Amino acid sequence: MPPVAESSLEVRGDFPILSRRPNGRPLIYLDSASTSQKPQSVIDALATHLSEHNANVHRGVYPLAQDADAAFEGARTRIAAFTNAPADTTIFTKNVTEAINLIAYSWARANIGPGDAVLITQAEHHANIVPWQVLCRERGAELRYLQIDGHGELAPEQLQRELARGDVRLVAFTHVSNVLGTINPVEQICAEIRAAGAISVVDGAQAVPQMPVNVSRIGADFYAWTGHKALGPTGIGVLHGRRELLETMEPFLTGGDMIASVQEQDATWNDLPWKFEAGTPAVAEAVGLGAAVDYLTAIGMDRVREHERSLTSYLLDGLARVPGLRVVGPPGADGRGGLASFTIEGLHPHDIAEIVGRDGVCIRAGHHCAQPLMRCLGVGSTARASVSVYNSPADIDALIESLSTARELFKLPAA
Ligand SMILES: Cc1ncc(COP(=O)(O)O)c(C=O)c1O
Repeated sequence: MPPVAESSLEVRGDFPILSRRPNGRPLIYLDSASTSQKPQSVIDALATHLSEHNANVHRGVYPLAQDADAAFEGARTRIAAFTNAPADTTIFTKNVTEAINLIAYSWARANIGPGDAVLITQAEHHANIVPWQVLCRERGAELRYLQIDGHGELAPEQLQRELARGDVRLVAFTHVSNVLGTINPVEQICAEIRAAGAISVVDGAQAVPQMPVNVSRIGADFYAWTGHKALGPTGIGVLHGRRELLETMEPFLTGGDMIASVQEQDATWNDLPWKFEAGTPAVAEAVGLGAAVDYLTAIGMDRVREHERSLTSYLLDGLARVPGLRVVGPPGADGRGGLASFTIEGLHPHDIAEIVGRDGVCIRAGHHCAQPLMRCLGVGSTARASVSVYNSPADIDALIESLSTARELFKLPAA
């Protein structure tokens, strides 16, 4: 047996759902890349907001409404600080999918046309593919892909070659792949994109929950992430944008709250960030996400990353002992986020997930909203285990033991 990973943050008790015992067994949650579980402090923040501070925001003058304003805008300030971005260029969206659509509709439709190209990578989530497909089809632009190598990594020369063609207006890519786990060198990639006069869009959905992310240092034109993977509630996402771009962009959605004034035939827009937040926002959810970043900040994002790196290393070691199992993505834990996607010869990924699920082990199986990537990998689907702050080496042991059960059930050969 390899040495048991030292890392355990001992915070499992903060997550009430993890005290559930399906079929009398502990709940082993290894699907945080899909959505994370929520600590009691986030649940309390939601409940306290709804039971003590609830009112609509940006319109009431009575004290309760001012309470709600302070809670909502206070959450924005702390969420922006969490990723070192200015609060007024930190826009609340429903999720990262909506954030990317906002860029595609508000910036790209006004700036991309025939003869232009949009560059993405083979490792993108559908949220960072389909909006660009629709845009390119509508505007007569070309959608091109950067390829990944056998380790799930991007070759730097390829990006340079593509940028040198002179027609690339926008490059959209993931910070951390939700299938391969690959951590892309975002700062360097964004610098190259900027030097080529193109716009960078980074999908930070898998990065922000598990490592220190400094949006100002990364230097992306747009950096988007989603609250529910970062211990926060569903229904709240974040878009950090470059001020000069946000100021010149038309709004994505229009209506209440995003206006400065409305005449019969015309309207003018509110200041940033509210220009991009039409209608009543997800107030309680923003407050909940504020509590989530407070929780992560109290642990320390360096510790979170080290914990997940160490657990992932332990996970990779454990998976390597399962006969017929193939992990996709970078070989070690250093260059990958807290997840491993895998196939087992002779077992369908859905069967793997279903059988380990009977033991209370929750892992994901499927195409992970990355069908073009599945085709590159030559598989229809994979199983995926992903870790978060509440996991420990014992959770990984439970998965590996359960995978053996699955192999025995299907009478697969021992080695
Ligand atoms: C890398 C990546 N991008 C985008 C998304 C989409 O997130 P959401 O559904 O919250 O918009 C996900 C979710 O799985 C993801 O992993």
